[in-house]
Parts: sequence; C-alpha cells; structure tokens
Amino acid sequence: MQTLIPMGLLGLGHYVPETRLTNADLEKMVDTTDDWIVQRTGIRERRIAAKDLDTSRIGILAAQRAIADAGIDPAEIDLVICCTVTGDQVFPATACRIGKEIGAVRAGGFDVAAACSGFVFGSQIAAGFIRSGVYKTVLVVGAEILSRIVDYTDRNTCVLFGDGAGAAIYTSHDRAKRGEFLGGSIQMEGASEDVLAVPGGGSRHPASHASVDQRLHFMKMGGTKVFRFAVRVFAELVQRVVDQYGLDEIGVIIPHQVNQRIIESAMDSLGLPMDLVYSNIERFGNTSAASVPIALSEAVAAGRLKKGKLAVMPAFGAGLAWGHIVLRW
Ligand SMILES: CC(C)(COP(=O)(O)OP(=O)(O)OC[C@H]1O[C@@H](n2cnc3c(N)ncnc32)[C@H](O)[C@@H]1OP(=O)(O)O)[C@@H](O)C(=O)NCCC(=O)NCCS
Repeated sequence: MQTLIPMGLLGLGHYVPETRLTNADLEKMVDTTDDWIVQRTGIRERRIAAKDLDTSRIGILAAQRAIADAGIDPAEIDLVICCTVTGDQVFPATACRIGKEIGAVRAGGFDVAAACSGFVFGSQIAAGFIRSGVYKTVLVVGAEILSRIVDYTDRNTCVLFGDGAGAAIYTSHDRAKRGEFLGGSIQMEGASEDVLAVPGGGSRHPASHASVDQRLHFMKMGGTKVFRFAVRVFAELVQRVVDQYGLDEIGVIIPHQVNQRIIESAMDSLGLPMDLVYSNIERFGNTSAASVPIALSEAVAAGRLKKGKLAVMPAFGAGLAWGHIVLRW
C-alpha cells in the first residue's frame, strides 16, 4: 500500500463583515426578546454583509489573510476548495472567482456544498490530495452570506445565523508551519429536507413566481429535530476521539458554532468540562461552513491550541451530514 504523506497547516485567516445585527435589532423585526435568544442559543449578535459584498469577496478577504499568514506566493496554491451553500450564483463555482482574485494562477477549484460540515469535509478532500501526493498546497475556504437566505420574518431561524469567512492553507507536513492533520470522518443520513433546507431554486422547485410567493428560497428548519441530532452526533464524534487517543491528549475542542445550548448539552452528556471548548457563538452566531475556520483562526490567535495536544473539530448540519477533523498542534 502507498505510504500517506503527512499533512499540516501553513496558514489561517478569517474575515467577518463590520455590520452587527444585535438581539435588540431583532426584537424590532420579529416577536422575540434578547433574553429568549440568549437563553436558548447563547447568541448576542451576528455580522451581516453589506449589499455590495458577495460570498467570493468575503472568501477572498479571508484567503488573503491566510496567504499572508502562510507567507507564500499564491501561485504555489494547487487547488482552491470553497465550502459554501450561499455561493455567488448557481455556477460557476465561487472557488473559481476566489482563485482568480487571489492570484492562484495554477490552481484548479470547485465548491463543496455540505452546509455546516463544509469546512470539515473540504479539509478531508484537501487531505486526500495532499496525503496521496497529487497536490502540495491546497486552500480551503469556508464562506457564507447566510443573511441572503434567512427569512427575517421567521423568528425560528433568523436569530441563529450570521455571515463570515475563514480560510486554511494545508500542505505536506515537512513544509507546514504547525499542526499535523491526523484525519477524521465524513458521514450522512440522507436528505432530510423537512429538517434543514432551502427548498426552492434548484431542479425540484425551480425559481418561479410561485416559489417566491411561497418563500421557498429561504431556509426552513425543524429546530427540535436539529437540536437532538446535533447533540447526539457532536457527542459521538468527540467520544470517538477520546476512545482513539485518550482524553488527556485533547487540548481544545473547536466545534461548529451551532448554538451554545447544543454545545453545553453535548459536553454535559460526555461528562466533559466546557473549558475544553472554544466558542465564539455569542459574537457571530452560526455561520455554517465558515464557523469552524473562523473559530480555529481565532483560537490559534488566542493561544488556545496547546503544543503536542489535539485540536478536535466536530461539525454537523444539513444533509443530514456530519464529520470531524483532528490536528495535533
Ligand atoms: C431553534 C431553537 C433555539 C428553539 O428552541 P426550543 O427550546 O427548541 O424551542 P421550541 O422549538 O420548543 O419553541 C418554543 C417556542 O418558542 C418559540 N420561538 C421560536 N423562536 C423564537 C424566538 N426567536 N423568540 C421567541 N420565541 C421563539 C416557538 O415558536 C415556540 O412557540 P410555541 O410553543 O408558541 O409554538 C432550538 O430548537 C435549536 O437551537 N435548534 C437547533 C437549531 C440549529 O442550531 N440549527 C442549525 C444547525 S446547523
């Protein structure tokens, strides 16, 4: 069997738009309260992209920061993967626009539509290319402008989501600056469109006057089902890492920033302390595919990753799909 080439991280970066949508702002838009939102979700504010920003633009801003952090020439990048469910348009891929604008002149690129698991899945794809020796340097961007698909008349969903982008550059471990990628998982349960979906705009319900009248191009969610699913798979993924490596090896858990209550319930069911978790949900809400790379970028800057210890990143969402990645720092 072919020996796998070890992979590590070369650079990280993130970008969040400046405009804040606070719980007080939402109180003026739907029948909700700051207390309700904070108690049920832990979210106090989210960032919202200005009208002139599209998903590729915020992805580019995050990618440029990751390139600066890596200290590489963008022409070295072999592949650009953009993880998003709010791409600039149906096609071409948002990755192609990002690649062109950052100067990744040799790279190929495509998008990964795995919603909140996007960055974790994109990182696994990068690992496939790098560890097999096909490519040396891969840029994985998680970028979302969820405010364009959130229904701001639906209090069940509009309080949860925000906009942002995060980016990671992976390379072979001998060239990497830090962190060895140890692997992870990708799983799915099959399409569950009643649980979490944007029903309209695709081949099932193409855009029409009727689809717009029925608000099918906005996100629909069964909150309780998603809650139970997320707690269960989050706990299963972390338990798997504990079983494989031992609890003492875990330095930090950087989960998909879904909802503070989900994170606390899962950690509680595992009997693990919350101080193992890095969370920024209070400031950014759920940014889907962008949430893990934004949190990873912030956690590294804050010195939360401990040398020699594991950083565990579980993610879960629409599909239903879930998975995790593990780095040794
Ligand atoms: C959405 C969520 C916060 C709702 O919390 P909950 O404790 O499950 O609340 P329920 O769904 O039982 O709803 C209770 C009531 O609060 C109401 N409610 C929902 N959103 C509200 C809001 N923003 N403000 C005030 N009331 C709200 C509901 O309408 C319901 O009212 P009713 O009993 O009159 O029908 C919770 O289900 C959740 O976090 N789910 C996961 C969502 C998620 O993270 N999705 C992304 C996954 S990647």
